[in-house]
Amino acid sequence: MTRDDDQGASAPADGDAYAAAPPATGGERLVGADADGEDTAVEAALRPKTLAEFVGQPKVREQLDLVLRAARQRGATADHVLLSGAPGLGKTTLSMIIAAEMGAPIRITSGPAIQHAGDLAAILSSLQEGEVLFLDEIHRMSRPAEEMLYMAMEDFRVDVVVGKGPGATAIPLELPPFTLVGATTRAGLLPPPLRDRFGFTAHMEFYEPAELERVVHRSAKLLEVTTDAAGAAEIAGRSRGTPRIANRLLRRVRDYAQVKADGAVTREIARQALAVYEVDERGLDRLDRSVLHALLKLFGGGPVGLSTLAVAVGEERETVEEVAEPFLVREGLLARTPRGRVGTPAAWAHLGLTPPPRPAPGAPGGQSGLFDG
Ligand SMILES: Nc1ncnc2c1ncn2[C@@H]1O[C@H](COP(=O)(O)OP(=O)(O)OP(=O)(O)O)[C@@H](O)[C@H]1O
Ligand SMILES: [Mg+2]
Repeated sequence: MTRDDDQGASAPADGDAYAAAPPATGGERLVGADADGEDTAVEAALRPKTLAEFVGQPKVREQLDLVLRAARQRGATADHVLLSGAPGLGKTTLSMIIAAEMGAPIRITSGPAIQHAGDLAAILSSLQEGEVLFLDEIHRMSRPAEEMLYMAMEDFRVDVVVGKGPGATAIPLELPPFTLVGATTRAGLLPPPLRDRFGFTAHMEFYEPAELERVVHRSAKLLEVTTDAAGAAEIAGRSRGTPRIANRLLRRVRDYAQVKADGAVTREIARQALAVYEVDERGLDRLDRSVLHALLKLFGGGPVGLSTLAVAVGEERETVEEVAEPFLVREGLLARTPRGRVGTPAAWAHLGLTPPPRPAPGAPGGQSGLFDG
Protein backbone atom coordinates (compact mmCIF):
# COMPACT_ATOMS: atom_id res chain seq x y z
CA MET A 1 0.00 0.00 0.00
CA THR A 2 1.41 3.37 -0.88
CA ARG A 3 0.29 6.63 0.50
CA ASP A 4 0.86 9.70 -1.59
CA ASP A 5 -1.21 12.29 0.18
CA ASP A 6 0.45 12.74 3.48
CA GLN A 7 4.12 13.28 2.78
CA GLY A 8 5.01 16.62 4.28
CA ALA A 9 1.52 17.14 5.62
CA SER A 10 1.31 18.97 8.91
CA ALA A 11 3.01 16.56 11.23
CA PRO A 12 2.92 17.27 14.95
CA ALA A 13 5.98 19.44 15.55
CA ASP A 14 6.88 18.09 18.93
CA GLY A 15 9.95 16.12 18.10
CA ASP A 16 8.41 12.68 18.44
CA ALA A 17 10.04 10.88 15.58
CA TYR A 18 7.47 8.11 15.56
CA ALA A 19 4.40 10.33 15.37
CA ALA A 20 5.90 12.68 12.79
CA ALA A 21 6.22 10.00 10.13
CA PRO A 22 3.19 8.73 8.24
CA PRO A 23 1.80 5.81 10.16
CA ALA A 24 1.97 2.28 8.87
CA THR A 25 -1.25 0.83 7.58
CA GLY A 26 -2.67 -2.55 8.46
CA GLY A 27 -1.64 -4.87 5.68
CA GLU A 28 2.12 -4.74 5.84
CA ARG A 29 2.75 -4.57 9.54
CA LEU A 30 5.62 -6.44 11.07
CA VAL A 31 3.45 -7.00 14.13
CA GLY A 32 0.30 -7.96 12.24
CA ALA A 33 -1.01 -11.35 13.32
CA ASP A 34 -2.23 -12.45 9.88
CA ALA A 35 0.13 -14.47 7.72
CA ASP A 36 1.89 -12.61 4.89
CA GLY A 37 3.50 -14.22 1.86
CA GLU A 38 6.83 -14.78 3.53
CA ASP A 39 5.17 -16.32 6.60
CA THR A 40 3.31 -18.79 4.44
CA ALA A 41 6.54 -19.79 2.76
CA VAL A 42 8.52 -20.42 5.94
CA GLU A 43 5.84 -21.48 8.39
CA ALA A 44 5.67 -25.04 7.19
CA ALA A 45 9.30 -25.50 8.21
CA LEU A 46 8.73 -24.03 11.65
CA ARG A 47 5.56 -25.91 12.57
CA PRO A 48 5.87 -28.31 15.48
CA LYS A 49 4.96 -31.80 14.28
CA THR A 50 3.85 -33.43 17.55
CA LEU A 51 1.86 -32.42 20.59
CA ALA A 52 4.99 -32.73 22.71
CA GLU A 53 6.80 -30.23 20.50
CA PHE A 54 3.90 -27.77 20.60
CA VAL A 55 4.87 -24.97 22.96
CA GLY A 56 2.48 -23.49 25.52
CA GLN A 57 -1.32 -23.85 25.68
CA PRO A 58 -0.94 -26.40 28.52
CA LYS A 59 -4.69 -26.88 29.02
CA VAL A 60 -5.44 -27.40 25.37
CA ARG A 61 -2.51 -29.77 25.04
CA GLU A 62 -3.55 -31.85 28.02
CA GLN A 63 -7.17 -32.08 26.96
CA LEU A 64 -6.39 -32.82 23.35
CA ASP A 65 -3.85 -35.43 24.38
CA LEU A 66 -6.59 -37.24 26.31
CA VAL A 67 -9.05 -37.05 23.44
CA LEU A 68 -6.55 -38.44 20.94
CA ARG A 69 -5.03 -41.03 23.25
CA ALA A 70 -8.45 -42.41 24.17
CA ALA A 71 -9.51 -42.61 20.54
CA ARG A 72 -6.28 -44.42 19.66
CA GLN A 73 -6.80 -46.91 22.49
CA ARG A 74 -10.29 -47.65 21.28
CA GLY A 75 -9.03 -47.93 17.73
CA ALA A 76 -11.63 -45.34 16.83
CA THR A 77 -11.65 -42.10 14.88
CA ALA A 78 -11.20 -39.06 17.12
CA ASP A 79 -14.13 -36.82 17.92
CA HIS A 80 -14.58 -33.62 15.92
CA VAL A 81 -12.44 -30.78 17.26
CA LEU A 82 -13.05 -27.05 17.08
CA LEU A 83 -10.04 -24.76 17.46
CA SER A 84 -10.83 -21.16 18.21
CA GLY A 85 -8.44 -18.31 18.77
CA ALA A 86 -6.78 -15.23 17.32
CA PRO A 87 -4.68 -15.44 14.14
CA GLY A 88 -1.19 -16.89 14.47
CA LEU A 89 -1.74 -18.82 17.70
CA GLY A 90 -1.33 -22.26 16.17
CA LYS A 91 -4.71 -23.51 14.93
CA THR A 92 -3.45 -24.79 11.58
CA THR A 93 -0.41 -26.23 13.34
CA LEU A 94 -2.59 -28.11 15.83
CA SER A 95 -4.82 -29.51 13.11
CA MET A 96 -1.78 -31.06 11.45
CA ILE A 97 -0.60 -32.38 14.80
CA ILE A 98 -3.99 -34.02 15.34
CA ALA A 99 -3.65 -35.88 12.07
CA ALA A 100 -0.04 -36.83 12.79
CA GLU A 101 -0.87 -38.06 16.29
CA MET A 102 -3.70 -40.17 14.89
CA GLY A 103 -1.50 -41.45 12.09
CA ALA A 104 -4.16 -40.24 9.69
CA PRO A 105 -3.98 -38.34 6.43
CA ILE A 106 -5.25 -34.76 6.43
CA ARG A 107 -7.34 -32.91 3.87
CA ILE A 108 -7.19 -29.14 4.09
CA THR A 109 -9.88 -26.77 2.92
CA SER A 110 -11.58 -23.62 4.16
CA GLY A 111 -15.01 -22.12 4.61
CA PRO A 112 -14.66 -19.57 1.80
CA ALA A 113 -13.50 -22.31 -0.60
CA ILE A 114 -16.79 -24.13 -0.14
CA GLN A 115 -19.28 -22.12 -2.13
CA HIS A 116 -21.90 -24.79 -2.67
CA ALA A 117 -23.09 -27.78 -0.71
CA GLY A 118 -21.94 -29.85 -3.70
CA ASP A 119 -18.33 -28.76 -3.10
CA LEU A 120 -18.55 -30.12 0.40
CA ALA A 121 -20.27 -33.31 -0.72
CA ALA A 122 -17.43 -33.95 -3.17
CA ILE A 123 -14.83 -33.56 -0.44
CA LEU A 124 -16.71 -35.59 2.15
CA SER A 125 -17.44 -38.47 -0.19
CA SER A 126 -13.79 -38.80 -1.13
CA LEU A 127 -12.51 -39.01 2.45
CA GLN A 128 -10.78 -42.15 3.62
CA GLU A 129 -11.73 -43.83 6.85
CA GLY A 130 -10.19 -41.96 9.81
CA GLU A 131 -9.03 -39.05 7.68
CA VAL A 132 -8.80 -35.60 9.26
CA LEU A 133 -10.70 -32.91 7.39
CA PHE A 134 -9.35 -29.49 8.33
CA LEU A 135 -11.88 -26.76 7.68
CA ASP A 136 -10.20 -23.41 8.21
CA GLU A 137 -12.32 -20.29 8.73
CA ILE A 138 -15.29 -22.53 9.29
CA HIS A 139 -17.43 -19.50 10.22
CA ARG A 140 -17.28 -18.37 6.60
CA MET A 141 -18.96 -21.41 5.09
CA SER A 142 -22.17 -20.99 3.13
CA ARG A 143 -25.47 -21.84 4.78
CA PRO A 144 -26.40 -24.89 2.66
CA ALA A 145 -22.91 -26.35 3.10
CA GLU A 146 -23.21 -25.79 6.82
CA GLU A 147 -26.44 -27.74 6.96
CA MET A 148 -24.93 -30.59 5.03
CA LEU A 149 -22.04 -30.59 7.48
CA TYR A 150 -24.41 -31.03 10.45
CA MET A 151 -25.58 -34.36 9.15
CA ALA A 152 -22.13 -35.44 8.04
CA MET A 153 -20.67 -34.73 11.47
CA GLU A 154 -23.42 -36.47 13.38
CA ASP A 155 -24.45 -39.42 11.24
CA PHE A 156 -21.56 -39.70 8.76
CA ARG A 157 -24.07 -39.39 6.00
CA VAL A 158 -25.01 -36.73 3.45
CA ASP A 159 -27.94 -36.30 1.16
CA VAL A 160 -26.76 -35.47 -2.31
CA VAL A 161 -29.47 -33.63 -4.20
CA VAL A 162 -29.69 -34.59 -7.83
CA GLY A 163 -31.67 -32.47 -10.25
CA LYS A 164 -33.51 -29.23 -9.71
CA GLY A 165 -37.03 -28.10 -8.88
CA PRO A 166 -39.89 -30.54 -8.21
CA GLY A 167 -38.01 -33.43 -9.80
CA ALA A 168 -35.01 -33.11 -7.50
CA THR A 169 -34.25 -36.17 -5.43
CA ALA A 170 -31.99 -36.59 -2.42
CA ILE A 171 -29.70 -39.58 -2.60
CA PRO A 172 -28.34 -40.58 0.79
CA LEU A 173 -24.64 -41.29 0.82
CA GLU A 174 -22.82 -43.10 3.61
CA LEU A 175 -19.50 -41.57 4.65
CA PRO A 176 -16.56 -43.29 6.33
CA PRO A 177 -15.96 -42.06 9.88
CA PHE A 178 -13.69 -39.00 9.80
CA THR A 179 -12.52 -36.30 12.18
CA LEU A 180 -13.52 -32.77 11.38
CA VAL A 181 -11.13 -30.15 12.72
CA GLY A 182 -12.68 -26.72 12.37
CA ALA A 183 -10.71 -23.55 12.96
CA THR A 184 -12.11 -20.11 13.56
CA THR A 185 -10.94 -16.73 14.74
CA ARG A 186 -14.58 -15.87 15.46
CA ALA A 187 -16.15 -18.65 17.50
CA GLY A 188 -19.02 -16.33 18.35
CA LEU A 189 -20.14 -16.32 14.73
CA LEU A 190 -20.68 -20.07 14.60
CA PRO A 191 -24.31 -21.11 14.76
CA PRO A 192 -24.96 -23.07 17.97
CA PRO A 193 -26.04 -26.27 16.14
CA LEU A 194 -22.64 -26.38 14.46
CA ARG A 195 -20.73 -25.57 17.63
CA ASP A 196 -22.61 -28.28 19.53
CA ARG A 197 -21.56 -30.97 17.10
CA PHE A 198 -17.93 -30.74 18.06
CA GLY A 199 -16.91 -33.19 20.75
CA PHE A 200 -14.10 -30.97 21.93
CA THR A 201 -13.48 -27.25 21.64
CA ALA A 202 -10.04 -25.80 22.26
CA HIS A 203 -9.78 -22.11 23.02
CA MET A 204 -6.31 -20.92 22.18
CA GLU A 205 -5.00 -18.17 24.43
CA PHE A 206 -2.30 -15.62 23.78
CA TYR A 207 1.10 -16.95 24.84
CA GLU A 208 3.09 -15.94 27.89
CA PRO A 209 6.48 -14.29 27.24
CA ALA A 210 8.29 -17.36 28.63
CA GLU A 211 6.42 -19.58 26.16
CA LEU A 212 7.26 -17.29 23.28
CA GLU A 213 10.89 -17.44 24.33
CA ARG A 214 10.73 -21.17 23.83
CA VAL A 215 9.11 -20.64 20.43
CA VAL A 216 11.95 -18.28 19.48
CA HIS A 217 14.62 -20.71 20.66
CA ARG A 218 13.01 -23.54 18.80
CA SER A 219 12.66 -21.56 15.56
CA ALA A 220 16.19 -20.16 15.88
CA LYS A 221 17.52 -23.68 16.03
CA LEU A 222 15.57 -24.69 12.93
CA LEU A 223 16.74 -21.57 11.09
CA GLU A 224 20.28 -22.14 12.36
CA VAL A 225 20.54 -18.75 14.01
CA THR A 226 22.62 -18.49 17.16
CA THR A 227 20.39 -16.85 19.76
CA ASP A 228 21.16 -16.31 23.43
CA ALA A 229 18.56 -16.27 26.20
CA ALA A 230 18.43 -12.48 26.48
CA GLY A 231 18.06 -12.07 22.73
CA ALA A 232 15.17 -14.54 22.63
CA ALA A 233 13.53 -12.82 25.60
CA GLU A 234 13.79 -9.45 23.88
CA ILE A 235 12.04 -10.78 20.77
CA ALA A 236 9.43 -12.69 22.80
CA GLY A 237 8.50 -9.58 24.78
CA ARG A 238 7.67 -7.69 21.61
CA SER A 239 5.66 -10.43 19.93
CA ARG A 240 2.18 -9.63 21.25
CA GLY A 241 1.61 -13.07 22.68
CA THR A 242 1.64 -14.55 19.16
CA PRO A 243 4.05 -17.22 17.85
CA ARG A 244 3.64 -16.09 14.24
CA ILE A 245 4.83 -12.59 15.18
CA ALA A 246 7.69 -14.03 17.26
CA ASN A 247 8.87 -16.04 14.24
CA ARG A 248 8.60 -13.01 11.99
CA LEU A 249 10.51 -10.71 14.35
CA LEU A 250 13.17 -13.39 14.71
CA ARG A 251 13.66 -13.40 10.95
CA ARG A 252 14.04 -9.63 10.83
CA VAL A 253 16.46 -9.64 13.76
CA ARG A 254 18.41 -12.40 12.05
CA ASP A 255 18.77 -10.23 8.93
CA TYR A 256 20.07 -7.37 11.03
CA ALA A 257 22.46 -9.60 12.95
CA GLN A 258 23.81 -11.00 9.71
CA VAL A 259 24.33 -7.63 8.01
CA LYS A 260 25.39 -5.50 10.96
CA ALA A 261 27.10 -7.99 13.26
CA ASP A 262 28.39 -11.53 13.37
CA GLY A 263 25.00 -13.18 12.84
CA ALA A 264 24.33 -13.99 16.48
CA VAL A 265 21.14 -12.70 18.09
CA THR A 266 21.81 -11.02 21.44
CA ARG A 267 19.68 -8.62 23.46
CA GLU A 268 21.54 -5.62 22.08
CA ILE A 269 21.24 -6.81 18.48
CA ALA A 270 17.53 -7.53 18.95
CA ARG A 271 17.00 -4.08 20.41
CA GLN A 272 18.83 -2.35 17.61
CA ALA A 273 17.08 -4.38 14.93
CA LEU A 274 13.60 -3.82 16.31
CA ALA A 275 14.31 -0.11 16.73
CA VAL A 276 15.02 -0.03 12.99
CA TYR A 277 11.70 -1.78 12.35
CA GLU A 278 9.95 0.49 14.86
CA VAL A 279 8.60 -2.25 17.07
CA ASP A 280 8.88 -1.06 20.67
CA GLU A 281 9.42 -2.96 23.94
CA ARG A 282 5.75 -3.81 24.22
CA GLY A 283 5.31 -4.78 20.60
CA LEU A 284 3.64 -1.53 19.53
CA ASP A 285 4.49 -0.34 16.04
CA ARG A 286 4.29 3.08 14.51
CA LEU A 287 0.54 2.95 13.89
CA ASP A 288 -0.19 1.93 17.48
CA ARG A 289 2.04 4.62 18.85
CA SER A 290 0.67 7.34 16.62
CA VAL A 291 -2.86 6.50 17.80
CA LEU A 292 -1.78 6.65 21.43
CA HIS A 293 0.26 9.74 20.81
CA ALA A 294 -2.66 11.60 19.24
CA LEU A 295 -5.00 10.44 21.97
CA LEU A 296 -2.72 11.66 24.74
CA LYS A 297 -1.00 14.69 23.22
CA LEU A 298 -3.77 16.20 21.09
CA PHE A 299 -6.78 15.22 23.15
CA GLY A 300 -5.34 15.16 26.65
CA GLY A 301 -6.08 11.44 26.99
CA GLY A 302 -9.69 11.69 25.82
CA PRO A 303 -12.47 10.86 25.78
CA VAL A 304 -12.37 11.47 22.06
CA GLY A 305 -14.52 10.00 19.32
CA LEU A 306 -13.13 7.36 17.00
CA SER A 307 -13.63 9.49 13.86
CA THR A 308 -11.77 12.43 15.36
CA LEU A 309 -8.95 10.19 16.48
CA ALA A 310 -8.73 8.62 13.02
CA VAL A 311 -8.55 12.00 11.30
CA ALA A 312 -5.85 13.09 13.73
CA VAL A 313 -3.62 10.17 12.80
CA GLY A 314 -4.48 10.40 9.09
CA GLU A 315 -6.01 6.95 8.95
CA GLU A 316 -9.33 5.40 8.11
CA ARG A 317 -11.70 4.83 11.00
CA GLU A 318 -11.61 1.10 10.30
CA THR A 319 -7.82 0.99 10.42
CA VAL A 320 -7.76 2.59 13.84
CA GLU A 321 -10.65 0.53 15.14
CA GLU A 322 -9.77 -2.86 13.71
CA VAL A 323 -6.01 -2.76 13.24
CA ALA A 324 -4.63 -0.65 16.07
CA GLU A 325 -7.17 -0.68 18.85
CA PRO A 326 -7.65 -4.36 19.67
CA PHE A 327 -4.07 -4.75 20.84
CA LEU A 328 -4.07 -1.39 22.64
CA VAL A 329 -7.23 -2.41 24.49
CA ARG A 330 -5.82 -5.84 25.26
CA GLU A 331 -2.69 -4.23 26.68
CA GLY A 332 -4.77 -1.90 28.84
CA LEU A 333 -3.39 1.18 27.08
CA LEU A 334 -6.66 2.38 25.59
CA ALA A 335 -10.25 2.05 26.75
CA ARG A 336 -13.37 2.27 24.65
CA THR A 337 -16.02 4.12 26.63
CA PRO A 338 -19.50 5.31 25.64
CA ARG A 339 -18.10 8.86 25.46
CA GLY A 340 -15.13 7.94 23.30
CA ARG A 341 -11.60 6.61 23.48
CA VAL A 342 -9.62 7.15 26.64
CA GLY A 343 -5.90 6.73 27.26
CA THR A 344 -5.14 4.83 30.47
CA PRO A 345 -2.42 5.70 32.99
CA ALA A 346 -0.38 2.85 31.47
CA ALA A 347 -0.51 4.65 28.12
CA TRP A 348 0.87 7.85 29.60
CA ALA A 349 3.61 5.86 31.28
CA HIS A 350 4.41 3.92 28.11
CA LEU A 351 4.92 7.05 26.04
CA GLY A 352 6.82 8.69 28.89
CA LEU A 353 4.31 11.52 29.16
CA THR A 354 2.77 13.11 32.23
CA PRO A 355 -1.03 13.10 32.37
CA PRO A 356 -2.67 16.47 32.97
CA PRO A 357 -4.10 17.02 36.45
CA ARG A 358 -7.58 15.53 36.75
CA PRO A 359 -10.41 18.08 36.55
CA ALA A 360 -12.39 18.45 39.76
CA PRO A 361 -15.59 16.35 39.85
CA GLY A 362 -18.39 18.19 38.04
CA ALA A 363 -16.02 20.39 36.06
CA PRO A 364 -16.55 20.39 32.27
CA GLY A 365 -14.11 18.27 30.32
CA GLY A 366 -13.81 15.83 27.47
CA GLN A 367 -15.85 18.04 25.14
CA SER A 368 -14.45 16.47 22.03
CA GLY A 369 -16.12 13.18 22.83
CA LEU A 370 -19.62 14.62 22.67
CA PHE A 371 -19.89 15.18 18.97
CA ASP A 372 -19.01 11.92 17.35
CA GLY A 373 -18.88 8.31 18.11
N1 LIG B 1 2.55 -23.63 20.13
C1 LIG B 1 3.43 -23.33 19.16
N2 LIG B 1 4.71 -23.71 19.26
C2 LIG B 1 5.59 -23.38 18.30
N3 LIG B 1 5.28 -22.70 17.19
C3 LIG B 1 4.03 -22.32 17.02
C4 LIG B 1 3.03 -22.63 18.00
N4 LIG B 1 1.87 -22.12 17.57
C5 LIG B 1 2.11 -21.53 16.39
N5 LIG B 1 3.40 -21.65 16.06
C6 LIG B 1 4.02 -21.10 14.86
O1 LIG B 1 3.33 -19.94 14.49
C7 LIG B 1 3.04 -19.94 13.10
C8 LIG B 1 1.58 -19.68 12.89
O2 LIG B 1 0.80 -20.75 13.39
P1 LIG B 1 -0.53 -21.23 12.65
O3 LIG B 1 -0.40 -21.06 11.19
O4 LIG B 1 -0.83 -22.58 13.17
O5 LIG B 1 -1.56 -20.18 13.23
P2 LIG B 1 -3.15 -20.11 12.98
O6 LIG B 1 -3.77 -20.07 14.33
O7 LIG B 1 -3.55 -21.19 12.07
O8 LIG B 1 -3.30 -18.70 12.30
P3 LIG B 1 -4.49 -18.18 11.28
O9 LIG B 1 -5.66 -17.83 12.14
O10 LIG B 1 -3.90 -16.96 10.64
O11 LIG B 1 -4.75 -19.29 10.32
C9 LIG B 1 3.52 -21.28 12.56
O12 LIG B 1 4.68 -21.08 11.80
C10 LIG B 1 3.91 -22.10 13.74
O13 LIG B 1 5.16 -22.66 13.52
MG1 LIG C 1 -4.31 -21.12 10.14
